[in-house]
Amino acid sequence: MKTSVPSITLNDGHTIPQLGFGVFKVEPTETKRIVSDALRVGYRHLDTAAIYGNEQGVGDAIATSGIDRGELYVTTKLWNARQGDALDAFDESLEKLGLDYVDLYLIHWPAPANGRFVDAWKSLEKIRESGRARSIGVSNFEEAHLQRLLAETEVVPAVNQIELHPAHQQQKVTEFARRKGIAIEAWGPLGQGKYPLFEETVVAVAAEAHDKTPAQVVIRWHLQTGNIVFPKSNSRERMAENFDVLDFALSDSEVAAISGLERSGRMGGHPNDVN
Ligand SMILES: NC(=O)c1ccc[n+]([C@@H]2O[C@H](COP(=O)([O-])OP(=O)(O)OC[C@H]3O[C@@H](n4cnc5c(N)ncnc54)[C@H](OP(=O)(O)O)[C@@H]3O)[C@@H](O)[C@H]2O)c1
Repeated sequence: MKTSVPSITLNDGHTIPQLGFGVFKVEPTETKRIVSDALRVGYRHLDTAAIYGNEQGVGDAIATSGIDRGELYVTTKLWNARQGDALDAFDESLEKLGLDYVDLYLIHWPAPANGRFVDAWKSLEKIRESGRARSIGVSNFEEAHLQRLLAETEVVPAVNQIELHPAHQQQKVTEFARRKGIAIEAWGPLGQGKYPLFEETVVAVAAEAHDKTPAQVVIRWHLQTGNIVFPKSNSRERMAENFDVLDFALSDSEVAAISGLERSGRMGGHPNDVN
């Protein structure tokens, strides 16, 4: 069985490693150490955001890693309050990261009450044109928000990064996005630890059957259902556990049983309410 991280080809021709490492809620002062650990474990795809306040730590870890820039995949995101000056916000992110380009730049939330996401997207189109973001995408977009971008702008987002885990699979927006060639990134892939996902019988039984942990089974479910994921952990042990998912496969019936855990279990904010 293939044991390297699989890649997904985006609608702009660039490829993205399907498994990465996220740094939401990683303390800025701890970020360099934690991301350095993640790179030593083997992760090459890092997901941060301006609002996390830890882009500098991510950049410091990259700078001291000795890993070629071309081997890394780095995503950051435009915060809602900066949708009106996305070009400046992007420059600030790039400077904190110490990079001359990012692989993927996202609008973090549509924040529809502000009425600016279409203009922000036009700025992201310019950033992509300049080569300083290889790919551009969105996050937390509902079908209606995607419809507006598709109708009013030129570039189809490469990804939509949305809350997605077994209890909240967002079938409607996921199916719409995939039909339009937009890849799905699943944030909160482990349910952010906010509900007893690992105790669900179907997860526990699959873990036992494959001699893996429940977290590994859930990450495997994401990979096999086509999601791009970047689970977060402060612990090097759990980072390694979450990365060690490439040497086994769930059966179709195990995947279906985990998909059966859907119950509209949103853990984070609704995209229409986060401003
Ligand atoms: N676009 C957005 O709006 C948005 C929103 C949220 C997140 N994200 C992105 O998605 C990434 C992942 O989501 P997330 O961090 O919110 O949630 P997550 O990855 O689903 O869950 C992280 C939680 O699970 C725990 N955990 C990790 N591995 C574990 C394991 N093997 N066994 C048991 N517990 C484990 C972590 O604790 P320890 O640290 O103690 O291990 C942490 O409490 C973020 O880091 C961020 O990059 C994006």
